[in-house]
Amino acid sequence: ERKGKGLELLFILITLLGLSLTQHNPHFKHGRTTIVHLFEWRWSDIAAECERFLAPKGFGGVQISPPNEHIVLDQPWRPWWQRYQPVSYNLCSTSGSEEEFIDMVIRCNNVGVNIYVDAVINHMCGSGGGEGNHSSCGSWFSASNKNFPSVPYSAWDFNVNKCRTSSGDIENYGDIFQVRDCRLVSLLDLNLEKDYVRGKVAEYMNKLIDLGVAGFRVDACKHMWPGDLENVYGRLQNLNTTWFPRDSKPFIFQEVIDLGGEAISYTDYVHLGRVTEFKYGAKLGKVFRKWDEEKLFYTRTWGEGWSFMSDGNAVVFVDNHDNQRGHGAGGSSIITFWDSRLYKMAVGYMLAHPYGVTRVMSSYRWNRNFVNGKDQNDWMGPPSNTNGSTKSVSVNPDQTCGDGWVCEHRWRQITNMVIFRNVVNGQPQINWWDNQSNQVAFGRGDRGFIVFNNDDWTLNVTLNTGMSGGTYCDVISGQKEGNTCTGKQILVSHDGNAHFKISNLDEDPFVAIHAESKI
Ligand SMILES: *[C@@H]1O[C@H](CO)[C@@H](O)[C@H](O)[C@H]1NC(C)=O
Ligand SMILES: *[C@@H]1O[C@H](CO)[C@@H](O)[C@H](O)[C@H]1NC(C)=O
Ligand SMILES: *[C@@H]1O[C@H](CO)[C@@H](O)[C@H](O)[C@H]1NC(C)=O
Ligand SMILES: *[C@@H]1O[C@H](CO)[C@@H](O)[C@H](O)[C@H]1NC(C)=O
Ligand SMILES: *[C@@H]1O[C@H](CO)[C@@H](O)[C@H](O)[C@H]1NC(C)=O
Repeated sequence: ERKGKGLELLFILITLLGLSLTQHNPHFKHGRTTIVHLFEWRWSDIAAECERFLAPKGFGGVQISPPNEHIVLDQPWRPWWQRYQPVSYNLCSTSGSEEEFIDMVIRCNNVGVNIYVDAVINHMCGSGGGEGNHSSCGSWFSASNKNFPSVPYSAWDFNVNKCRTSSGDIENYGDIFQVRDCRLVSLLDLNLEKDYVRGKVAEYMNKLIDLGVAGFRVDACKHMWPGDLENVYGRLQNLNTTWFPRDSKPFIFQEVIDLGGEAISYTDYVHLGRVTEFKYGAKLGKVFRKWDEEKLFYTRTWGEGWSFMSDGNAVVFVDNHDNQRGHGAGGSSIITFWDSRLYKMAVGYMLAHPYGVTRVMSSYRWNRNFVNGKDQNDWMGPPSNTNGSTKSVSVNPDQTCGDGWVCEHRWRQITNMVIFRNVVNGQPQINWWDNQSNQVAFGRGDRGFIVFNNDDWTLNVTLNTGMSGGTYCDVISGQKEGNTCTGKQILVSHDGNAHFKISNLDEDPFVAIHAESKI
């Protein structure tokens, strides 16, 4: 009897543990390791990109923009953040229709590339969103009456009485009740304490799971109570067995902006799924920019040694769609495609380093216009046609993108480091070297080695790579094509040593070799 109870308890404990930990698993296929955020891309372009580029180059998955119906704002002209103002859970948005969404999920899954949905479940549109059918599927709604008949939600599905500020908005981030019960920048705050609201949110997410998505980036988690999220996640079905093993739970990664020093900490959320580690990009930006007297060699203890969350809980990125334009957290240290030389190095460092699940950003250009250090055009939406529809992504003969799409994930240095990460997957970080300044190198078992020179002088050293003897092609200055190398060649001797010379004036002052770049 006693023994039985003990075993039962143990069993329950294991089930609970297993349940939450599986939500930390991105379910990558074929040993792939990296997510790319195709910000504001149309579904038909993502489907094509999965087949023609992401699968052949070994990308594990795509984070897509919110697929639900959203408000359409012409004042300012179609800002990107209108996608974060839901009007209903119908699957039509400026990225495309429900049919196009379904086609994308099937085509990406069929080539082993997962789709992760940006789930906006904290709120609906702004309180000043008006009344009418200015929405991406044309559904009628009334922001002033909190009436969204296409869900349906009505006034009593929102937090009103719970919020204690006079404006109804969050006024003090030091007060956790305000942060979670009041409106974030006037966005109508859903009452996720209600069974009905939880049910509607779960119904939306379950529909996406049935269609074949692998998981969710959950928006604005700091503004939702962990217990409410736990309830919603607990209602989610297992992933579609057409593409995923039986009993696979959806991957959950939660947006919690925590640079330290706020009342709400990421620690409230890590038992529910992974969490976005915002300190990562903010710190890495300072290191590569050499601000605050940071030096690259200090990153010898990069990861948990820098008080980041534990490896198994983190999703990491150099920049995201918010902080690349001054929104969200991180400030001016964040490195983006606008600083392309530093950006390639920082993304290369992230992809070579074993910590966290990595996410690469893929952006569009906009006309930046700084006034007193603030970009007046930080609202600008994606490249669009004169009728307001989002432009397709065009691909040039040299494989770069046109029409304003940046496609950082197609930059040779970044694509090749995504492959590097797959090749060294599971290998320990070894053979660290540094010059006590901004020149560092490290290996990943006997599968890969990388050397950075972010000093203002030449690096010229012989290092132990830990790799087998032979000639390797540097995948930063070029790549292996057939049995030739279009970049620098690195000769590794039988004892594993190799000589590296990297000028601080090189186009890209870093070198990376891996087991599959051997000639
Ligand atoms: C929605 O807007 C269109 C054009 O703006 C208008 O013709 C149509 O009557 C509206 N539909 C509803 C249901 O309000
Ligand atoms: C899983 O996906 C397949 C293929 O699209 C579909 O036919 C099936 O209905 C889905 N399963 C569920 C449970 O929805
Ligand atoms: C908007 O313009 C694009 C490009 O000219 C066109 O392909 C699309 O069909 C138009 N959409 C609407 C709703 O008129
Ligand atoms: C950094 O590395 C170079 C050689 O790669 C060396 O000459 C220099 O003295 C090192 N140390 C410092 C502190 O710069
Ligand atoms: C680089 O190092 C090699 C071997 O240590 C040495 O022979 C060579 O002179 C060095 N070159 C420069 C420019 O310092």
